[in-house]
Amino acid sequence: MNRKEFLSKLGIGAAFVLTSTCLGSCTKDNAALDNIDFTLDLDAPANTSLLQNGGYIVQSSVVVAKNNNGAYVAATQICSHDDLVEVTFKNNEFYCTAHGARFDQQGNGLNSNGSKGIRTYQTELSGNILRVFS
Ligand code: FES
Repeated sequence: MNRKEFLSKLGIGAAFVLTSTCLGSCTKDNAALDNIDFTLDLDAPANTSLLQNGGYIVQSSVVVAKNNNGAYVAATQICSHDDLVEVTFKNNEFYCTAHGARFDQQGNGLNSNGSKGIRTYQTELSGNILRVFS
């Protein structure tokens, strides 16, 4: 899925995408990525991957993972290399399956395809409820 398909899925119309493209700015596109705030019930069957270190899920186009130290980390699923929605969590890093971009858990790029970094989010655990937010 590319950026246009992703924004369409979020309910942002093609006119907006064309307008923002014509203006040559990605700031409006990135606004959707900056307004993330949702919670996950870790007792829910859909979230069982988050109970194991190294596990991850995707919710609202955000990759939410439990790192190898048992802490929760999150980043956008949109890769900064070529705007493809292909980011996952692998080997304790955010990883793009399209062309191999790698990002640390703070969003810093770890190789040339990841050099632009990636948007990360804060997490907060309260009981079995995990909040992910900008
Ligand atoms: S789109 Fe992610 S590495 Fe190219």
